[in-house]
Amino acid sequence: MPAVVVIGAQWGDEGKGKATDQLGSRADYVVKFNGGNNAGHTVVIGTEKYALHLLPSGILSPGVTPVIGNGVVIDIEVLFQEIDALIARGVDVSRLLVSSDAHLIAPYNRTLDKVTERFLGSRKIGTTGRGIGPTYADKISRVGIRVQDLFDENILRQKVAGALDQKNQLLVKVFNRRAITVDETVENLLMFAERLRPMVTDTSLVINRALDDGKIVVFEAGQATMLDVDHGTYPFVTSSNATAGGACTGSGVGPTRIDRVVGVVKAYATRVGEGPFPTELLDDMGEFLRVTGGEYGVTTGRSRRCGWYDAVVARYAGRVNGLTDFVLTKLDVLTGLPTIPVCVAYDVDGVRHDEMPADQSDFHHATPIYEEFDGWTEDITGARVFEDLPLNAQNYVLALEKMSGTRMSSIGVGPDREATIVRHDLLD
Ligand code: GDP
Ligand code: IMO
Ligand code: MG
Repeated sequence: MPAVVVIGAQWGDEGKGKATDQLGSRADYVVKFNGGNNAGHTVVIGTEKYALHLLPSGILSPGVTPVIGNGVVIDIEVLFQEIDALIARGVDVSRLLVSSDAHLIAPYNRTLDKVTERFLGSRKIGTTGRGIGPTYADKISRVGIRVQDLFDENILRQKVAGALDQKNQLLVKVFNRRAITVDETVENLLMFAERLRPMVTDTSLVINRALDDGKIVVFEAGQATMLDVDHGTYPFVTSSNATAGGACTGSGVGPTRIDRVVGVVKAYATRVGEGPFPTELLDDMGEFLRVTGGEYGVTTGRSRRCGWYDAVVARYAGRVNGLTDFVLTKLDVLTGLPTIPVCVAYDVDGVRHDEMPADQSDFHHATPIYEEFDGWTEDITGARVFEDLPLNAQNYVLALEKMSGTRMSSIGVGPDREATIVRHDLLD
Protein backbone atom coordinates (compact mmCIF):
# COMPACT_ATOMS: atom_id res chain seq x y z
CA MET A 1 0.00 0.00 0.00
CA PRO A 2 2.52 2.63 -1.07
CA ALA A 3 0.64 5.98 -1.38
CA VAL A 4 -1.51 7.18 1.50
CA VAL A 5 -3.12 10.60 1.80
CA VAL A 6 -3.92 11.90 5.31
CA ILE A 7 -6.43 14.76 5.49
CA GLY A 8 -8.47 16.55 8.16
CA ALA A 9 -12.17 15.66 8.07
CA GLN A 10 -13.47 18.62 10.11
CA TRP A 11 -12.18 22.21 10.62
CA GLY A 12 -8.56 21.37 11.37
CA ASP A 13 -6.60 20.33 14.48
CA GLU A 14 -8.04 16.82 14.38
CA GLY A 15 -4.65 15.31 15.25
CA LYS A 16 -3.22 14.91 11.73
CA GLY A 17 0.28 15.46 13.13
CA LYS A 18 0.03 12.48 15.46
CA ALA A 19 -1.49 10.30 12.71
CA THR A 20 1.26 11.19 10.21
CA ASP A 21 3.95 10.74 12.82
CA GLN A 22 2.66 7.23 13.51
CA LEU A 23 2.74 6.33 9.82
CA GLY A 24 6.08 8.12 9.52
CA SER A 25 8.00 5.39 11.26
CA ARG A 26 7.07 3.04 8.40
CA ALA A 27 7.10 5.56 5.54
CA ASP A 28 9.95 6.41 3.20
CA TYR A 29 8.63 9.87 2.25
CA VAL A 30 6.20 12.27 3.96
CA VAL A 31 4.97 15.04 1.68
CA LYS A 32 3.25 18.26 2.74
CA PHE A 33 1.14 19.37 -0.20
CA ASN A 34 -0.88 22.45 0.80
CA GLY A 35 -1.01 25.37 3.20
CA GLY A 36 1.93 26.87 5.01
CA ASN A 37 2.72 28.01 8.51
CA ASN A 38 -0.97 28.55 9.21
CA ALA A 39 -0.87 24.87 10.21
CA GLY A 40 0.11 23.80 13.70
CA HIS A 41 0.67 20.15 14.50
CA THR A 42 1.59 18.84 17.94
CA VAL A 43 3.41 15.54 18.11
CA VAL A 44 4.15 13.95 21.48
CA ILE A 45 6.90 11.34 21.68
CA GLY A 46 7.45 10.14 25.24
CA THR A 47 8.29 13.22 27.28
CA GLU A 48 9.13 15.29 24.20
CA LYS A 49 6.54 17.58 22.62
CA TYR A 50 7.06 19.08 19.15
CA ALA A 51 5.07 21.88 17.49
CA LEU A 52 5.40 21.74 13.71
CA HIS A 53 4.10 24.28 11.21
CA LEU A 54 5.79 24.19 7.85
CA LEU A 55 7.65 20.91 8.09
CA PRO A 56 5.82 17.62 7.50
CA SER A 57 5.23 15.73 10.75
CA GLY A 58 7.10 12.75 9.30
CA ILE A 59 10.31 14.70 9.87
CA LEU A 60 10.45 13.29 13.41
CA SER A 61 10.98 9.73 12.18
CA PRO A 62 14.60 8.84 11.44
CA GLY A 63 15.01 7.56 7.89
CA VAL A 64 12.05 9.42 6.42
CA THR A 65 12.59 11.90 3.61
CA PRO A 66 10.35 14.91 4.32
CA VAL A 67 9.15 16.82 1.26
CA ILE A 68 7.61 20.28 0.92
CA GLY A 69 5.57 20.01 -2.28
CA ASN A 70 4.73 22.59 -4.94
CA GLY A 71 1.29 23.25 -3.40
CA VAL A 72 2.76 24.67 -0.18
CA VAL A 73 3.40 28.37 0.42
CA ILE A 74 6.69 28.94 2.23
CA ASP A 75 7.70 31.63 4.67
CA ILE A 76 11.42 31.09 4.30
CA GLU A 77 12.29 32.77 7.61
CA VAL A 78 9.83 30.58 9.51
CA LEU A 79 11.12 27.51 7.67
CA PHE A 80 14.65 28.05 8.93
CA GLN A 81 13.48 28.96 12.44
CA GLU A 82 11.69 25.62 12.54
CA ILE A 83 14.64 23.75 11.04
CA ASP A 84 17.07 25.31 13.53
CA ALA A 85 14.79 24.56 16.49
CA LEU A 86 14.63 20.90 15.46
CA ILE A 87 18.38 20.67 14.89
CA ALA A 88 18.90 22.10 18.39
CA ARG A 89 16.79 19.22 19.73
CA GLY A 90 18.81 16.63 17.84
CA VAL A 91 16.36 15.94 14.99
CA ASP A 92 17.99 15.09 11.67
CA VAL A 93 16.54 17.39 9.00
CA SER A 94 19.25 16.81 6.43
CA ARG A 95 16.98 14.86 4.07
CA LEU A 96 14.43 17.67 3.63
CA LEU A 97 13.48 18.38 0.00
CA VAL A 98 11.68 21.50 -1.20
CA SER A 99 9.87 21.93 -4.52
CA SER A 100 11.35 24.53 -6.85
CA ASP A 101 7.75 25.36 -7.86
CA ALA A 102 6.46 26.16 -4.35
CA HIS A 103 5.48 29.78 -3.81
CA LEU A 104 7.11 32.05 -1.24
CA ILE A 105 5.27 34.21 1.27
CA ALA A 106 6.73 37.64 0.58
CA PRO A 107 6.70 40.11 3.51
CA TYR A 108 4.12 42.29 1.72
CA ASN A 109 1.68 39.38 1.78
CA ARG A 110 1.96 39.09 5.54
CA THR A 111 1.20 42.80 5.76
CA LEU A 112 -1.72 42.51 3.35
CA ASP A 113 -3.22 39.56 5.26
CA LYS A 114 -3.31 41.62 8.46
CA VAL A 115 -4.54 44.90 6.98
CA THR A 116 -7.23 43.17 4.90
CA GLU A 117 -8.60 41.48 8.02
CA ARG A 118 -8.64 44.78 9.88
CA PHE A 119 -10.37 46.42 6.93
CA LEU A 120 -13.05 43.72 6.83
CA GLY A 121 -14.01 44.48 10.45
CA SER A 122 -16.98 42.33 11.47
CA ARG A 123 -16.80 40.47 8.14
CA LYS A 124 -13.28 39.22 8.90
CA ILE A 125 -12.28 35.58 8.30
CA GLY A 126 -10.16 35.27 11.44
CA THR A 127 -7.06 34.22 9.48
CA THR A 128 -3.81 33.24 11.14
CA GLY A 129 -2.24 36.44 9.73
CA ARG A 130 0.62 34.53 8.15
CA GLY A 131 0.10 35.85 4.60
CA ILE A 132 -1.41 32.59 3.32
CA GLY A 133 -4.44 34.02 1.46
CA PRO A 134 -2.61 36.86 -0.34
CA THR A 135 0.18 34.47 -1.40
CA TYR A 136 -2.26 31.98 -2.95
CA ALA A 137 -4.08 34.93 -4.54
CA ASP A 138 -0.78 35.98 -6.16
CA LYS A 139 -0.23 32.43 -7.37
CA ILE A 140 -3.61 32.34 -9.10
CA SER A 141 -3.15 35.91 -10.39
CA ARG A 142 0.23 34.84 -11.83
CA VAL A 143 2.25 37.40 -9.91
CA GLY A 144 3.64 35.01 -7.29
CA ILE A 145 7.29 34.53 -6.34
CA ARG A 146 8.50 30.93 -6.48
CA VAL A 147 11.39 29.13 -4.79
CA GLN A 148 13.29 28.89 -8.09
CA ASP A 149 13.15 32.69 -8.47
CA LEU A 150 15.54 32.99 -5.52
CA PHE A 151 18.40 31.71 -7.62
CA ASP A 152 18.30 34.45 -10.27
CA GLU A 153 18.35 37.84 -8.55
CA ASN A 154 17.55 39.65 -11.78
CA ILE A 155 14.34 37.70 -12.32
CA LEU A 156 13.50 37.95 -8.62
CA ARG A 157 13.79 41.76 -8.74
CA GLN A 158 11.61 41.98 -11.83
CA LYS A 159 8.91 39.78 -10.31
CA VAL A 160 8.93 41.59 -6.96
CA ALA A 161 8.77 44.96 -8.74
CA GLY A 162 5.83 43.72 -10.84
CA ALA A 163 3.95 42.52 -7.77
CA LEU A 164 4.70 45.67 -5.75
CA ASP A 165 3.45 47.98 -8.52
CA GLN A 166 -0.12 47.02 -7.71
CA LYS A 167 0.31 46.23 -4.03
CA ASN A 168 1.80 49.59 -3.15
CA GLN A 169 -1.18 51.35 -4.75
CA LEU A 170 -3.40 49.26 -2.52
CA LEU A 171 -1.30 49.66 0.62
CA VAL A 172 -0.92 53.43 0.29
CA LYS A 173 -4.22 54.52 -1.25
CA VAL A 174 -6.67 52.06 0.28
CA PHE A 175 -5.06 50.89 3.51
CA ASN A 176 -3.17 54.08 4.35
CA ARG A 177 0.11 52.22 4.94
CA ARG A 178 3.65 53.02 3.79
CA ALA A 179 4.86 51.73 0.44
CA ILE A 180 7.17 48.68 0.50
CA THR A 181 10.39 48.83 -1.53
CA VAL A 182 11.75 46.25 -3.97
CA ASP A 183 15.12 46.35 -2.19
CA GLU A 184 13.80 45.50 1.27
CA THR A 185 11.65 42.68 -0.16
CA VAL A 186 14.45 41.13 -2.20
CA GLU A 187 16.83 41.39 0.73
CA ASN A 188 14.35 39.60 2.98
CA LEU A 189 13.65 36.84 0.46
CA LEU A 190 17.34 36.23 -0.25
CA MET A 191 18.30 35.99 3.41
CA PHE A 192 18.20 32.17 3.46
CA ALA A 193 18.46 31.44 -0.27
CA GLU A 194 21.87 29.80 -0.09
CA ARG A 195 20.84 27.60 2.83
CA LEU A 196 17.75 26.57 0.89
CA ARG A 197 19.51 25.87 -2.42
CA PRO A 198 20.74 22.30 -1.70
CA MET A 199 17.23 21.21 -0.65
CA VAL A 200 15.52 22.49 -3.79
CA THR A 201 14.60 19.98 -6.46
CA ASP A 202 11.86 18.68 -8.77
CA THR A 203 9.96 16.99 -5.96
CA SER A 204 7.31 15.61 -8.33
CA LEU A 205 10.00 13.59 -10.07
CA VAL A 206 11.42 12.38 -6.75
CA ILE A 207 8.01 11.28 -5.44
CA ASN A 208 6.96 9.55 -8.65
CA ARG A 209 10.26 7.67 -8.83
CA ALA A 210 9.86 6.65 -5.20
CA LEU A 211 6.40 5.26 -6.02
CA ASP A 212 7.85 3.45 -9.06
CA ASP A 213 10.32 1.81 -6.68
CA GLY A 214 7.52 0.63 -4.36
CA LYS A 215 8.39 3.07 -1.58
CA ILE A 216 5.79 4.15 0.99
CA VAL A 217 4.76 7.79 0.54
CA VAL A 218 2.45 9.60 2.99
CA PHE A 219 0.84 12.83 1.80
CA GLU A 220 0.03 15.05 4.78
CA ALA A 221 -2.61 17.80 4.51
CA GLY A 222 -2.61 21.00 6.45
CA GLN A 223 -6.00 22.41 7.49
CA ALA A 224 -9.07 20.33 6.65
CA THR A 225 -12.08 19.53 4.47
CA MET A 226 -14.33 22.26 5.91
CA LEU A 227 -11.53 24.82 5.42
CA ASP A 228 -10.93 23.77 1.78
CA VAL A 229 -11.29 26.69 -0.61
CA ASP A 230 -13.68 24.69 -2.86
CA HIS A 231 -15.43 22.30 -0.50
CA GLY A 232 -15.33 24.14 2.82
CA THR A 233 -17.53 26.80 4.37
CA TYR A 234 -16.53 29.49 1.85
CA PRO A 235 -15.60 32.31 2.43
CA PHE A 236 -14.63 31.16 5.94
CA VAL A 237 -11.93 28.88 4.61
CA THR A 238 -8.22 28.82 3.98
CA SER A 239 -6.97 29.50 0.45
CA SER A 240 -5.79 26.05 -0.62
CA ASN A 241 -7.22 22.62 -1.42
CA ALA A 242 -6.88 20.77 1.86
CA THR A 243 -8.96 17.86 0.53
CA ALA A 244 -7.49 14.70 -1.01
CA GLY A 245 -7.41 16.11 -4.56
CA GLY A 246 -4.94 18.69 -3.30
CA ALA A 247 -2.46 15.88 -2.64
CA CYS A 248 -2.19 15.33 -6.40
CA THR A 249 -2.07 18.93 -7.59
CA GLY A 250 0.07 19.97 -4.63
CA SER A 251 2.75 17.34 -5.16
CA GLY A 252 2.69 16.42 -8.85
CA VAL A 253 1.40 12.85 -8.67
CA GLY A 254 -1.62 11.57 -10.57
CA PRO A 255 -4.81 10.36 -8.84
CA THR A 256 -4.24 6.82 -10.15
CA ARG A 257 -1.21 6.53 -7.88
CA ILE A 258 -3.10 7.07 -4.61
CA ASP A 259 -4.00 3.86 -2.82
CA ARG A 260 -5.66 5.04 0.36
CA VAL A 261 -7.19 8.24 1.73
CA VAL A 262 -7.35 8.56 5.50
CA GLY A 263 -9.56 11.17 7.19
CA VAL A 264 -8.59 12.27 10.68
CA VAL A 265 -11.65 13.12 12.76
CA LYS A 266 -11.99 14.15 16.39
CA ALA A 267 -14.54 12.44 18.67
CA TYR A 268 -16.07 15.94 18.99
CA ALA A 269 -15.54 19.04 16.83
CA THR A 270 -13.52 22.25 17.00
CA ARG A 271 -13.03 25.30 14.81
CA VAL A 272 -10.67 28.31 14.98
CA GLY A 273 -11.57 31.65 13.45
CA GLU A 274 -14.91 32.82 12.10
CA GLY A 275 -17.59 30.95 10.16
CA PRO A 276 -20.54 28.60 10.65
CA PHE A 277 -20.26 25.71 13.12
CA PRO A 278 -23.69 24.13 13.75
CA THR A 279 -22.76 21.98 16.76
CA GLU A 280 -20.83 24.72 18.56
CA LEU A 281 -21.34 24.81 22.34
CA LEU A 282 -21.24 28.26 23.88
CA ASP A 283 -21.91 26.95 27.39
CA ASP A 284 -20.05 25.10 30.16
CA MET A 285 -19.96 21.96 28.03
CA GLY A 286 -17.97 23.83 25.36
CA GLU A 287 -15.59 24.98 28.09
CA PHE A 288 -15.30 21.39 29.38
CA LEU A 289 -14.20 20.19 25.91
CA ARG A 290 -11.79 23.13 25.50
CA VAL A 291 -10.11 22.57 28.86
CA THR A 292 -10.14 18.75 28.84
CA GLY A 293 -9.05 18.55 25.20
CA GLY A 294 -6.46 21.35 25.53
CA GLU A 295 -8.13 23.12 22.63
CA TYR A 296 -5.87 26.12 22.18
CA GLY A 297 -4.22 26.86 18.83
CA VAL A 298 -0.68 25.62 18.21
CA THR A 299 -0.02 28.51 15.80
CA THR A 300 -1.87 31.50 17.21
CA GLY A 301 -2.69 30.37 20.75
CA ARG A 302 -6.34 31.25 20.14
CA SER A 303 -9.03 29.32 22.05
CA ARG A 304 -10.67 26.83 19.73
CA ARG A 305 -14.46 26.86 19.45
CA CYS A 306 -15.78 23.46 20.60
CA GLY A 307 -18.88 21.41 19.85
CA TRP A 308 -20.31 17.91 19.44
CA TYR A 309 -19.37 15.44 16.71
CA ASP A 310 -21.15 16.25 13.47
CA ALA A 311 -21.84 13.08 11.46
CA VAL A 312 -23.15 15.12 8.50
CA VAL A 313 -19.74 16.80 8.20
CA ALA A 314 -17.97 13.44 8.57
CA ARG A 315 -20.10 11.88 5.80
CA TYR A 316 -19.45 14.90 3.61
CA ALA A 317 -15.70 14.54 4.21
CA GLY A 318 -16.01 10.87 3.28
CA ARG A 319 -17.61 11.85 -0.02
CA VAL A 320 -15.44 14.76 -1.19
CA ASN A 321 -12.21 13.00 -0.23
CA GLY A 322 -13.14 9.45 -1.21
CA LEU A 323 -12.08 8.28 2.25
CA THR A 324 -11.08 4.66 2.75
CA ASP A 325 -10.51 4.98 6.51
CA PHE A 326 -11.08 7.27 9.46
CA VAL A 327 -8.61 7.84 12.25
CA LEU A 328 -10.75 8.82 15.25
CA THR A 329 -8.88 10.95 17.78
CA LYS A 330 -9.35 12.21 21.34
CA LEU A 331 -11.95 9.69 22.45
CA ASP A 332 -10.39 9.98 25.94
CA VAL A 333 -11.54 13.62 26.19
CA LEU A 334 -15.19 12.47 26.38
CA THR A 335 -14.59 10.24 29.44
CA GLY A 336 -16.85 11.19 32.35
CA LEU A 337 -19.71 12.64 30.34
CA PRO A 338 -23.04 11.00 31.29
CA THR A 339 -24.40 11.29 27.74
CA ILE A 340 -22.78 12.32 24.45
CA PRO A 341 -24.91 13.97 21.78
CA VAL A 342 -24.02 13.43 18.11
CA CYS A 343 -25.43 15.53 15.28
CA VAL A 344 -27.10 13.16 12.81
CA ALA A 345 -28.84 15.71 10.54
CA TYR A 346 -29.76 19.41 10.39
CA ASP A 347 -33.00 21.25 10.70
CA VAL A 348 -32.95 24.17 8.29
CA ASP A 349 -36.00 26.38 8.70
CA GLY A 350 -38.20 23.37 9.46
CA VAL A 351 -36.76 21.10 6.76
CA ARG A 352 -34.58 18.08 7.67
CA HIS A 353 -31.24 17.83 5.83
CA ASP A 354 -29.37 14.54 6.05
CA GLU A 355 -26.58 15.84 3.83
CA MET A 356 -24.63 19.10 3.79
CA PRO A 357 -26.95 21.86 2.48
CA ALA A 358 -25.90 23.01 -0.99
CA ASP A 359 -26.57 26.63 -0.13
CA GLN A 360 -24.32 28.58 2.22
CA SER A 361 -27.20 30.45 3.88
CA ASP A 362 -28.91 27.15 4.74
CA PHE A 363 -25.76 25.94 6.47
CA HIS A 364 -25.60 29.19 8.45
CA HIS A 365 -29.19 28.50 9.65
CA ALA A 366 -28.67 24.80 10.31
CA THR A 367 -29.73 23.59 13.74
CA PRO A 368 -28.34 20.18 14.72
CA ILE A 369 -30.67 17.23 15.22
CA TYR A 370 -29.00 15.18 17.94
CA GLU A 371 -28.99 11.53 18.93
CA GLU A 372 -27.73 10.84 22.46
CA PHE A 373 -25.31 8.10 23.42
CA ASP A 374 -24.50 6.79 26.91
CA GLY A 375 -21.10 7.85 28.24
CA TRP A 376 -18.47 6.00 30.30
CA THR A 377 -16.45 6.87 33.39
CA GLU A 378 -13.51 4.43 33.14
CA ASP A 379 -10.05 5.82 32.24
CA ILE A 380 -9.45 4.66 28.67
CA THR A 381 -5.98 6.12 28.10
CA GLY A 382 -4.37 2.70 28.63
CA ALA A 383 -6.62 0.89 26.13
CA ARG A 384 -4.64 -0.67 23.27
CA VAL A 385 -7.19 -2.99 21.67
CA PHE A 386 -10.81 -2.21 20.92
CA GLU A 387 -12.09 -4.69 23.51
CA ASP A 388 -10.17 -2.78 26.26
CA LEU A 389 -12.69 0.06 25.84
CA PRO A 390 -15.80 0.15 28.07
CA LEU A 391 -18.88 -1.09 26.23
CA ASN A 392 -20.40 2.39 25.95
CA ALA A 393 -17.19 3.75 24.38
CA GLN A 394 -17.21 0.83 21.92
CA ASN A 395 -20.85 1.57 21.10
CA TYR A 396 -20.05 5.27 20.56
CA VAL A 397 -17.26 4.43 18.09
CA LEU A 398 -19.39 1.87 16.26
CA ALA A 399 -22.26 4.37 16.02
CA LEU A 400 -19.96 7.06 14.60
CA GLU A 401 -18.60 4.53 12.14
CA LYS A 402 -22.10 3.63 10.96
CA MET A 403 -23.27 7.24 10.70
CA SER A 404 -20.10 8.52 9.08
CA GLY A 405 -20.03 5.85 6.39
CA THR A 406 -16.34 4.85 6.56
CA ARG A 407 -14.58 2.42 8.87
CA MET A 408 -12.84 3.79 11.97
CA SER A 409 -9.49 2.10 11.55
CA SER A 410 -7.65 3.70 14.43
CA ILE A 411 -8.75 5.28 17.70
CA GLY A 412 -6.75 7.81 19.69
CA VAL A 413 -6.98 7.57 23.48
CA GLY A 414 -4.24 10.08 24.40
CA PRO A 415 -1.73 12.48 22.82
CA ASP A 416 1.23 10.08 23.00
CA ARG A 417 2.41 8.07 20.00
CA GLU A 418 1.54 4.83 21.79
CA ALA A 419 -1.94 5.89 22.95
CA THR A 420 -3.72 4.39 19.96
CA ILE A 421 -5.97 1.44 19.20
CA VAL A 422 -5.37 0.05 15.72
CA ARG A 423 -8.34 -1.85 14.25
CA HIS A 424 -7.12 -1.92 10.63
CA ASP A 425 -3.55 -1.27 9.52
CA LEU A 426 -3.49 1.93 7.44
CA LEU A 427 -0.54 0.78 5.36
CA ASP A 428 -1.70 -2.77 4.77
P1 GDP B 1 -3.39 18.82 13.67
O1 GDP B 1 -3.30 20.25 13.28
O2 GDP B 1 -4.50 18.09 12.98
O3 GDP B 1 -2.08 18.09 13.53
O4 GDP B 1 -3.78 18.77 15.21
P2 GDP B 1 -3.18 19.70 16.40
O5 GDP B 1 -1.83 19.19 16.74
O6 GDP B 1 -3.34 21.13 16.07
O7 GDP B 1 -4.23 19.40 17.55
C1 GDP B 1 -4.45 18.10 18.01
C2 GDP B 1 -4.06 18.04 19.51
O8 GDP B 1 -4.60 16.87 20.07
C3 GDP B 1 -2.57 17.96 19.77
O9 GDP B 1 -2.29 18.67 20.94
C4 GDP B 1 -2.31 16.47 19.97
O10 GDP B 1 -1.19 16.21 20.80
C5 GDP B 1 -3.58 16.05 20.63
N1 GDP B 1 -4.02 14.68 20.37
C6 GDP B 1 -3.96 13.97 19.20
N2 GDP B 1 -4.58 12.79 19.33
C7 GDP B 1 -5.04 12.74 20.62
C8 GDP B 1 -5.81 11.77 21.36
O11 GDP B 1 -6.20 10.73 20.87
N3 GDP B 1 -6.12 12.11 22.67
C9 GDP B 1 -5.73 13.29 23.23
N4 GDP B 1 -6.09 13.55 24.48
N5 GDP B 1 -5.01 14.22 22.54
C10 GDP B 1 -4.69 13.94 21.26
P1 IMO C 1 -4.04 22.68 10.99
O1 IMO C 1 -3.18 22.15 9.85
C1 IMO C 1 -7.36 25.19 12.25
C2 IMO C 1 -8.21 28.70 9.78
C3 IMO C 1 -7.98 30.06 10.39
C4 IMO C 1 -9.05 30.87 9.66
C5 IMO C 1 -9.03 30.26 8.26
C6 IMO C 1 -8.21 31.04 7.26
O2 IMO C 1 -3.28 22.86 12.27
O3 IMO C 1 -5.28 21.86 11.14
P2 IMO C 1 -5.60 31.35 6.89
O4 IMO C 1 -4.55 31.94 7.78
O5 IMO C 1 -5.34 29.94 6.50
O6 IMO C 1 -5.91 32.21 5.70
O7 IMO C 1 -6.93 31.37 7.79
O8 IMO C 1 -8.50 28.95 8.40
N1 IMO C 1 -7.05 27.80 9.83
C7 IMO C 1 -6.94 26.74 10.64
N2 IMO C 1 -7.75 26.30 11.63
N3 IMO C 1 -6.26 24.48 11.95
C8 IMO C 1 -5.44 24.89 10.95
O9 IMO C 1 -4.39 24.17 10.52
C9 IMO C 1 -5.74 26.10 10.27
N4 IMO C 1 -5.16 26.80 9.27
C10 IMO C 1 -5.97 27.82 8.99
O10 IMO C 1 -8.20 30.03 11.78
O11 IMO C 1 -10.32 30.60 10.22
MG1 MG D 1 -3.35 22.15 14.15
